[in-house]
Amino acid sequence: MTTAGREAGAGRPSLVVLISGRGSNLQAILDAIREGRLHADVRAVISNNPDAPGLDRARRAGVAVEVIDHRHYPTRAAFDVELRQHIDRHSPTLVVLAGFMRILTDDFIRHFEGRLLNIHPSLLPDFPGLNTHTQALAAGAREHGATVHFVTPTVDAGPAVLQARVAVEPGDTPATLAERVLREEHRILPEAIGWFVAGRLTLRDGQALLDGRPVQTPANRNLR
Ligand code: GRF
Repeated sequence: MTTAGREAGAGRPSLVVLISGRGSNLQAILDAIREGRLHADVRAVISNNPDAPGLDRARRAGVAVEVIDHRHYPTRAAFDVELRQHIDRHSPTLVVLAGFMRILTDDFIRHFEGRLLNIHPSLLPDFPGLNTHTQALAAGAREHGATVHFVTPTVDAGPAVLQARVAVEPGDTPATLAERVLREEHRILPEAIGWFVAGRLTLRDGQALLDGRPVQTPANRNLR
């Protein structure tokens, strides 16, 4: 059994992590757990993509993997019902979207609201959606970064929990910028998860609260 497996304990907070690809953010979570920086267990890693390289990262850490191929479902809603059922079997403390590249239905999001976090590679509210590094360069942004946020029904618009900034350097390409942002993603995602599983982070009335106080980030400027 792996270190991650040995440390699994009945009383520990549990995570289900959803991925679609490379899984480097998943790896950051697994590393934080293995190194004792994050006190939680990953109960399962679920991918909509059977070929996601991140599945091997989970297997190497001794974590159960499940594949739910969205192409086998007639509708987005049908896929989301199946996904919800798979997640609910683990009764996780928190569900983490770590490079999960599917838009989720409102029903799914409402079911998990308040215990569903996403990592997005931009300083939200700037550059929601895809190709954020290309968007940032095209807009002439001088700063870029990453945001961990609670997921609410509008895509990439849920209340931010934690943001990390990087300077855009002369000569940056989408690839060089992505690499610097990714390093920050790997730092802030386990940190935010740690806050949540420690009971310090909650979603209340559409606001992210840390230690009972609203999280102040530019992303939350327009939230009530
Ligand atoms: C990350 O940049 C994440 O923010 C975005 O997709 C990428 C996934 O990378 N949503 P990985 O699969 O965690 O390596």
